Amino acid sequence: MNGVTPDRNLALELVRVTEAAAMGAARWIGRGEKESADQAAVDAMRLMLDTVSMDGMLFNGEEVGDGTGPAVDVAVDPLEGTRLTALGQPNAIAVIAVAERGTMFFPGAAVYMEKIAVGPQGIDAIDITAPPADNIRAVAKAKGVSTREISVVVLERDRHDELIGELRDAGAKVNLIRDGDVAPAIAAASAGTGVDMLYGIGGTPEGVISAAALKCVGGGIQARLWPRDDEERRKLVEAGLDPARVLTTDDLVTGNDVFVAATGVTTGSLLRGVRYLPNGAVTDSIVMRSRSGTVRRVEATHALDKLEALTGRQYR
Ligand code: FBP
Repeated sequence: MNGVTPDRNLALELVRVTEAAAMGAARWIGRGEKESADQAAVDAMRLMLDTVSMDGMLFNGEEVGDGTGPAVDVAVDPLEGTRLTALGQPNAIAVIAVAERGTMFFPGAAVYMEKIAVGPQGIDAIDITAPPADNIRAVAKAKGVSTREISVVVLERDRHDELIGELRDAGAKVNLIRDGDVAPAIAAASAGTGVDMLYGIGGTPEGVISAAALKCVGGGIQARLWPRDDEERRKLVEAGLDPARVLTTDDLVTGNDVFVAATGVTTGSLLRGVRYLPNGAVTDSIVMRSRSGTVRRVEATHALDKLEALTGRQYR
C-alpha cells in the first residue's frame, strides 16, 4: 500500500489560538471601542501562540511558537473586523494561517490588493484582468446558473462605486459589507453559505490568509497588488514586485502543507460568534489543512471561571 503515515495536524493546536483571540475580542462586542477589542484579541492570541509546537515567523520577522517543530511562516489576524466587533456587526473572526517557511507571499509596501475569490467551480473561470461583467458571466456559466443567481460580496467603499455598478448591471446580487473580507472569501468556497464570490480591493495580509484558507477548502483567489499612489508603486517596483502581475492562490501561498484556523467573534456567513452561558462561553471554529483537505468544525464550551483562574485574564 502506498502512502505516508499520518502526522500531526498543527491546525488542531492553532484552533486554541483563535478561540482565545475570539474570546478576548468578544468582551468588546458592541462597546464602540475597536482599539480595545483589537488589543484584547492580540494579547490573548499571543499568550496562546507561544504554546504551539512550531518554529514560526510572522511577516515582520517576529518569532512565534515554542521554537520546536517545523519552521513555518505564520500570518495572523487576531481580530479581522475591529469595527464590526466594536459596532456589534456580523462577520468578525479571529484567524491564523501557517505554511512551510518561505512559502507565503510577502507584499512589501502594498497595503491593498485587488481580489476575486471563488469556490472550486469558479477557479478556471475568473480572470482579474477582465471586466467584472465577464467574470460574473463566466462564474455563472461554470456553476450552471443564471447571472441573477450569483451573489457577490464587496466591501462598501467609495473606491468600489464603479465596480458595484458593473456587477449589478451584469445581473449579480451585490452584498455590501462594512469590513472583513476574509470570512466571505472562505464562504465563497464553502457550500451553503449563499456567497459565490468576493470581489474588490482589500488588505494584502487578508489576501494571503484568504489564499491559505482557499487552498485548504478547495477554492481559489486571483489578486493584483493595488498601490495607492506613485510613491507606493515606486517602492514596490524597487523591491522587485510587479503591480501588474496576476497572483494566483499558489503564488500567494506556494506551500503544500498549509494549516488555517478561524473562530467567529460575531455571527456571520461562515461562523457563529462567541455565545455566553451562565458560567461559560461557546465558540465556533473552522479548522483546515491543505494536504489532507480535511475541514473540521469545532464547537467548544469554555469554563470561564476556570480559564480566568488559570490565566489571570478576564473573559467576560
Ligand atoms: P479591520 O482592520 O478593522 O479589522 O478591518 C479589516 C478590513 O475590513 C479587511 O477585511 C479588509 O481587507 C480591509 O480592512 C479593508 O481596508 P480598508 O478599511 O482600508 O478599506
